[in-house]
Amino acid sequence: MDHFIYRDGRLMAEDVALEDIAATVGTPVYVYSTATLLRHFRLFDAALEGLPHTVCFAVKSLSNQAILTLLSREGAGMDVVSGGEYARARAAGVPGERIVFSGVGKTREEMRLALEGGLRQVNLESEPEMRVLSEVAHSMGVEVPVTVRVNPDVDAKTHPKIATGLSQNKFGVPIARAREVYAEAARLPGLRVVGIDVHIGSQLTDLAPFEAAYRKVADLTEVLRADGHAIERLDLGGGLGIPYTRSNEVPPLPLDYGALIKRTVGHLGCEIEIEPGRLIAGNAGILLSRVVYVKRGEGRDFLILDGAMNDLIRPAMYDAWHDIVPVTEPAAGAPTRAFDIVGPVCESGDTFAREREMPEVGEGDLVAFRSAGAYGAVMASEYNSRPLVPEVLVDGDQFAVIRPRPTFDEMIARDTLPPWL
Ligand code: LLP
Repeated sequence: MDHFIYRDGRLMAEDVALEDIAATVGTPVYVYSTATLLRHFRLFDAALEGLPHTVCFAVKSLSNQAILTLLSREGAGMDVVSGGEYARARAAGVPGERIVFSGVGKTREEMRLALEGGLRQVNLESEPEMRVLSEVAHSMGVEVPVTVRVNPDVDAKTHPKIATGLSQNKFGVPIARAREVYAEAARLPGLRVVGIDVHIGSQLTDLAPFEAAYRKVADLTEVLRADGHAIERLDLGGGLGIPYTRSNEVPPLPLDYGALIKRTVGHLGCEIEIEPGRLIAGNAGILLSRVVYVKRGEGRDFLILDGAMNDLIRPAMYDAWHDIVPVTEPAAGAPTRAFDIVGPVCESGDTFAREREMPEVGEGDLVAFRSAGAYGAVMASEYNSRPLVPEVLVDGDQFAVIRPRPTFDEMIARDTLPPWL
């Protein structure tokens, strides 16, 4: 459920008309709903009630400081995967003890940054990384809580580019080698083993792969405890999918996911961490764009928008579907027409949808890409020297720009000339 609905013929973000935002901020622009973000975060929190838990928002999905601040004030922890994300979480006021540090290639500098600033745990992804962290922590005279991310070799049944839990993927250590790795972790100075970490992929629309992975983690917990390790925390990753189109079957709800967690690992007495990103942010954001031209092609018509692949890369990168709806509500039973919906970037890949049935829209009309809150703005670039897409946060009847659109001068001023030019 989200808070982008038609009222009196106009698409609203909570109590703000999207056309008012477009008039003030221009297009393209991302618009987020506070009520939706909070609602989704609270759903996860409620789903784990009864178990000690921390919901660590996956910062990579939507990393604007305003969003992180909002969620942090709500009590959210954060899952970060780079020094930059760590710095963002801290700048948003997230206490170190609520930050988990994931990612396959943490550098010494990133480790030092997080160890100095404080963190809840590092999720280790390989033995070489574990040895380096040991060295860094030991040299700083600290002991860092760690989990090892295990790769359970489970098929997440999602898009191959966002599946992470198969043995062919680069993530984690093979679960079959976990005992050896934990034995070494326990021997290394500067590390304190506190738990196990797993994350099998993103946009999962079926609970079965989670169930398979969490059962393996439960078994491993018993084995590692028998080996003498203090397994007190389980970080179960993120990945719960969202409905991208109304006609799709509805993915499982956080409540079902919480019940599954309780069923599979609830008996172990562990503190639970989860790292949802998409389900919190995805349907809490839209990308608002304007039709620049309607162009008649041979055998097809093109809607040429002012938003492009540099603003929202998901369709080009994963063939992802986003519902694209007019901001002025079409009359009931209004005729539709098939369009190829494209951006102005000079690549054929800059195509959002092919032969998409749309109500009649014309030049100057506004359209909204639904479900664009997660992995939207964060993956944007300035390709074709299109200034980075701005972001707006709505709360009730108020809205604020939370990242302004750079001017051309600002964009250009970031480059510097070498002294010899
Ligand atoms: N934890 C870890 C270790 C992750 O790698 C990810 C996502 C998450 C949590 C959050 O997963 P979520 O709850 O958002 O599914 N750019 C792609 C998605 C990449 C996901 C990467 N990892 C997309 O646009 O679909």
